[in-house]
Amino acid sequence: MPSLEIKPYLPWLAPLAGYSNAPFRLLCRHMGAYATCTEMVSAKGIYYSLHPNGCRSFRLPGPGNINMQKGKGSWALLASPEEESPLIIQLFGAEPDIVAIAAESILQLFAGREIYFDLNMGCSVPKVVKTGSGAVMLADPVNALKVAEALIAAAGAGKVGFKLRLGWLNGENIYLKLGKQLEDAGAAWITLHPRYGKQAFTGKADWSKIAALKQELSIPVLASGDLLSAAAAKSCLEQTGADAVMFARGAMNNPFIFREFSRLMQGENTARPTLAELMDAISQHASLAWAWLDERYALSQMRGFIPRYVHHFAGVRALRQQLTACRNREQLNAIISQFIASQTADPGE
Ligand SMILES: Cc1cc2nc3c(=O)[nH]c(=O)nc-3n(C[C@H](O)[C@H](O)[C@H](O)COP(=O)(O)O)c2cc1C
Repeated sequence: MPSLEIKPYLPWLAPLAGYSNAPFRLLCRHMGAYATCTEMVSAKGIYYSLHPNGCRSFRLPGPGNINMQKGKGSWALLASPEEESPLIIQLFGAEPDIVAIAAESILQLFAGREIYFDLNMGCSVPKVVKTGSGAVMLADPVNALKVAEALIAAAGAGKVGFKLRLGWLNGENIYLKLGKQLEDAGAAWITLHPRYGKQAFTGKADWSKIAALKQELSIPVLASGDLLSAAAAKSCLEQTGADAVMFARGAMNNPFIFREFSRLMQGENTARPTLAELMDAISQHASLAWAWLDERYALSQMRGFIPRYVHHFAGVRALRQQLTACRNREQLNAIISQFIASQTADPGE
């Protein structure tokens, strides 16, 4: 079984709650993403769905029966086709036992597949933080380490990465010490989004902190934060010495970023996608969405993604209004055809 390669020229798709579901991950792979991360999945959600009375023993329903594809809840976030490899499943949770049992259950479900886990120590949204998970774990590094050790014991050495911010409170730099402790505990890689938890997305990602972490650790360090273009990712690699990059908002706005990045890394020209290429990507994304998600969710996903993909064209406001009123796939196709017809020039011209 091939093992995970972490190389500067092999870009990752970041975990993106509400976005990095199977259709978007598959689209990004098609565009050149090497590794793809699921949205963060609640370890508690997995645990309690299998252990309704809190008992430890459980019988896994089996891939055919579990409501993943077109399903709802935490399990649905794990829907992934066999060929998606390497697949990184991101968990969030702050209780060592629950995180470990969730990982064991997922491993049983994915038996025979090459999967890796990532633990979310970076999310700053209140819904996650109030459960003690995400970036607020950095305020209690002793517990964070316990959770990490439990997850590594459940999943195996070389199978778990951690996604960190610099610390929880502004100016509280715990990433170097915790990064080293995670390395000693058997972490396979560390991703750093160099902002503080309290900062959310304000200010600038401080890439110098990625360089500092890279100096400190022997395991691979992945860079995240303000990688909104292929050029930004390349300069981040040059400035930090990071082992690889993870695209997040950059991919949500332009899935071609993976192709552009690969071309740039090979010294080739990185022209923007043409309108025809964008429309082809939209149609691929829609087909994947309808195959993997229920119709309502597929529609709401496409309503969100399409205006992002074509944000630099004229008429996007009207397009957004039409998409809001759109009720089914046929209407969606008609709206896309109308948008194409309304364009007379190539993007950015
Ligand atoms: C909509 C959205 C959802 C996100 N969801 C997650 C998540 O589930 N897990 C996680 O670790 N980070 C999550 N992030 C953070 C990103 O993975 C990434 O670290 C961050 O956006 C910084 O990269 P960027 O500036 O290049 O977007 C999310 C970010 C956004 C914008």
